Amino acid sequence: MAIYLDNAATSFPKPESVYRSIDETLRQFGGNPGRGGHQLALDASRIVFTAREAVAGFFGISDSSRVVFTANATAAINQALFGLLNPGDRVVTTNMEHNAVARPLRALQERGVEVVKVAADARGFVAPEDFCRACSAAPTALAVLGHISNVTGTIQDLPTIGPWCHSHGVTLLVDAAQSAGLLPIDVEALGIDLLAAPGHKGLFGPVGSGFLYVRPGLELVPLLYGGTGANSHSELMPEVMPERLESGTPNTPGLAGLTAGIAWLEEIGLDAIREHESRCLSRILSGLATISGLEIYGPGDPLKSGGVLSFNLKGLDPSAVAFRLDHEFSICVRSGLHCAPEAHRAIGTYPAGTVRVSPNMMNSLEEIEAFLTAIAVIAQGR
Ligand code: ALA
Repeated sequence: MAIYLDNAATSFPKPESVYRSIDETLRQFGGNPGRGGHQLALDASRIVFTAREAVAGFFGISDSSRVVFTANATAAINQALFGLLNPGDRVVTTNMEHNAVARPLRALQERGVEVVKVAADARGFVAPEDFCRACSAAPTALAVLGHISNVTGTIQDLPTIGPWCHSHGVTLLVDAAQSAGLLPIDVEALGIDLLAAPGHKGLFGPVGSGFLYVRPGLELVPLLYGGTGANSHSELMPEVMPERLESGTPNTPGLAGLTAGIAWLEEIGLDAIREHESRCLSRILSGLATISGLEIYGPGDPLKSGGVLSFNLKGLDPSAVAFRLDHEFSICVRSGLHCAPEAHRAIGTYPAGTVRVSPNMMNSLEEIEAFLTAIAVIAQGR
């Protein structure tokens, strides 16, 4: 059995309850939610509603109709950006963002949106004063912040930036791809207007699940147009949420799995999840520190990082290290640029990138030791 240390890409394995709920939904509740009034369609609708309530409860969202289900965080971010921004608008973001943010913003730049990128330091931190200063410099339609870097694990200072944006009337989109299910996120307490997250990483749902939270009062232009199950007579998309932003048949089994993943997290508690990930990261940090010619990137402190650690072995290409880990030791990590080239420029690892290890609650400390032994063997053979 492989040792899976690539949970920043997608979490694996899932809790048993997630597998069971997906299987049960596919076998027993096969109707199309919101499309038809028969019992199996109604059962499916209940599953989708339960998932919406579960997401809302987990993120401090008082009105679950403001939770829009998407295929992943990328779809959620695209809906937020293309649904909100117009030519002439100004956006403030950072150079630590994933391509899920950087590429749609680049496309919008070509349509006349101004994009300002606040630079991070070499450990991946964006100073909140720099970010807020950039937002104050000119009228800003939107601020976009990745909560935790998928390259360095750096946790940005959302508790400072969020309330600042809220009190200064700057709409804030948070990309919680790496933080949802790891750090507590209360959208109201943190002043978040738009929250994009995958269901398949820290929330332990299956791939193909994700969501966008849209603060009440904030109206987005739909990215997708189509059937919503209601108001079929109209040529126009409904005004009501979430239907306005949710066209097409939803992923009922995936959402059942997402509900089960969130229930599992709630049972264990985020404190225990964070404590275990921090223990794994601490051990990886202390183990890697004993290997000469090994450079660690990011905060170097588990309390300031979330679930992710990047490093390089001097003299070896990161992809060669990941290949050997996989082929000789059956250990799965991700190498290269991790779809975040600018973050690698910020920390000085562009273009080769890094080796990234991302443990989670499912990893044992024995697996971490096996990983460290494998790295020591690879390092010795240089
Ligand atoms: N964004 C995911 C990663 O960092 C896929 O690997």
